[in-house]
Amino acid sequence: MKVKVSRKASFNAAHRLFRKDWTQEKNHEVFGKCSYPNYHGHNYDLIVSVEGEIDEETGFVMDLKVLKDLIREHVEEALDHKNLNTDVPEFKNLNPTAENIAVVIWNKLRPHIKQTNKLEVVLYETPRNFVTYSG
Ligand code: NI
Repeated sequence: MKVKVSRKASFNAAHRLFRKDWTQEKNHEVFGKCSYPNYHGHNYDLIVSVEGEIDEETGFVMDLKVLKDLIREHVEEALDHKNLNTDVPEFKNLNPTAENIAVVIWNKLRPHIKQTNKLEVVLYETPRNFVTYSG
């Protein structure tokens, strides 16, 4: 019997979407306001889910306090109040789109989640725009 447990979190970060090898016009055409040179912020909301068997002894799939601490240590401390383009090594050569941020978060958390459990990351860049990555 598999059950999915989830923890919500949030962080604020600045970014700019652009490709160095494109002109400013082309960047604006593809990325719109998100390509403005001086960066801008988003309030990101995050839902991290772990799916697996219920442990017979504890009744937990995973202790959500442990998941909360993992998110704080590996996601919030790495991304919160950062400029993703300039302050976070993973985005040195990777456009910090919601898609890529979700994959980076998943990769940061995966080593700390029991291998037999499934990990899913849902990242909201705005209340209406969100992406899902589950490996
Ligand atoms: Ni943006």
